[in-house]
Amino acid sequence: MDTIILSDWLGTRLERDAAEPMYRQVLRLVQHAILTGQLAPGTKLPSSRTLADDLDIARNTVLRVYDQLTAEGYVLSTTGSGTYVADTRPDTAAVRPRVFTRASEAGAPEESRAHRSLSTRGRRLIGRAGVAPKQWGAFMPGVPDVTEFPSRTWSRLQARLWKEANPDLLTYAPGGGYRPLRRALSDYLRVARSVKCSPDQIIITTGIHQSMDLAVRLLTDVGDRAWVEEPCYWGARSVLQSAGLELEPIPVDSEGLNPRELAQAAPHAPPRLAVVTPSHQYPLGMVMSLARRRTLLEYARQHDVWIVEDDYDSEFRYGSRPIASLQGLDDAGRVIYVGSLGKILYPGLRIGYMVAPEHLVDTFRTGVAELYREGQLMHQAVLAEFILGGYLTSHVRRMRALYGERRQMLIDAITSRFGDALPVMGDEAGLHLVLGLPDSADDRAVTAAAFEAGVIVRPLAAYYSSEEVARRGLLLGYACVPNDRIGPAFETLARVIEQHLSAGAMHAA
Ligand SMILES: Cc1ncc(COP(=O)(O)O)c(C=O)c1O
Repeated sequence: MDTIILSDWLGTRLERDAAEPMYRQVLRLVQHAILTGQLAPGTKLPSSRTLADDLDIARNTVLRVYDQLTAEGYVLSTTGSGTYVADTRPDTAAVRPRVFTRASEAGAPEESRAHRSLSTRGRRLIGRAGVAPKQWGAFMPGVPDVTEFPSRTWSRLQARLWKEANPDLLTYAPGGGYRPLRRALSDYLRVARSVKCSPDQIIITTGIHQSMDLAVRLLTDVGDRAWVEEPCYWGARSVLQSAGLELEPIPVDSEGLNPRELAQAAPHAPPRLAVVTPSHQYPLGMVMSLARRRTLLEYARQHDVWIVEDDYDSEFRYGSRPIASLQGLDDAGRVIYVGSLGKILYPGLRIGYMVAPEHLVDTFRTGVAELYREGQLMHQAVLAEFILGGYLTSHVRRMRALYGERRQMLIDAITSRFGDALPVMGDEAGLHLVLGLPDSADDRAVTAAAFEAGVIVRPLAAYYSSEEVARRGLLLGYACVPNDRIGPAFETLARVIEQHLSAGAMHAA
């Protein structure tokens, strides 16, 4: 490596008209020269006065650069004797040359190199990532109408609470979350969801993903088996698989997940954990029957299985009152109930909760603090006031009426276009419905074409563990679509579907 005369070298590289300040330029260039060996270890740097004169820049600028280089270990300064480049070359005894085990590894193209950098579970996670690139617009499933969020009420409560902010509310928050919020939530869940709990059993998290992650990390080991519903929410699958669990998908029927099927197939190998959506199966929408609930709870009691009950949107049921939780029937402390404010208020709020069985409360509180360092108490305090002031229940009531109206408009649009040729499923509750497509249809292709046409839907096949068992259909969220957009957006989607189905029919003929 050729060594350089620093002032000459810098002189040809400094840009006097550049937006980057002179200090930053000199610092960056000298660091580069040291890292590339152009300024070798032991080289004496010119005095600050000489370098400043040679470059015609302020001496203070050079002094600042030398100070920063010293602080970051690039140079060593000794009073009276000058500034020398430090020897920071990697220790060759510690760093042995890499041996390529596979011939293809050395010159692999960029994309596959990125893929290969991942761990096995990282590859599984990224390879089957379910998250949609766009989260707002007709017919994005699972998203409430965030424009209806009572932001003025929220900001009034927030402004008042910030005046009372104190260190306890602004530091880390070990202990499971803001106590008044836990009290408010336990009252709410007892009444609205028939959950049996005390405020102590509530642990505030950033949402269902985090609650599940915590439960899985504390209650299972890598390689343990977990039952998930077939089909199921992609997020549950991602959380479980990246914690190293082996998933066993159990088909759902009109009564939800059937524990008997797998228990009979493998009587000696119960899973460690099961994730279920009993009040509103995701994504198909059925309700788990009471008989199945009791069977699952009894099975869990006998075989020490943990049940994670994901109760993500049960507030929105249109024909009847919300279905009571599974947790409320559990006398053996096997259910971990997880819920979220994301579907009721707005997804970006990132506040959720878990209801832990009594004997696990302390463990879970410690776990949440150790793994995620919880905080956000100011937000939690605002939410507590929001619930205690009755704003949550009135917002839910108002949204239920609004979403019910939108749901009906969407169903009307579907039936007036397709009659009963395409079935509508799971429309009794929640924020979305499923529009069934023929088995021969490629719902992923329809989704991509709809996206091109400006409409967001999700393919039902993506929620199954494999293409072979997948049913075809589209998830259509109606909650976030303004009434006057439902008709036109569905018209666009219907044209895409028709084109696809007629192309498929011609292909088959
Ligand atoms: C079934 C189900 N569970 C959980 C979630 C996510 O919950 P959170 O935003 O609280 O992590 C969703 C979001 O779409 C969902 O559909």
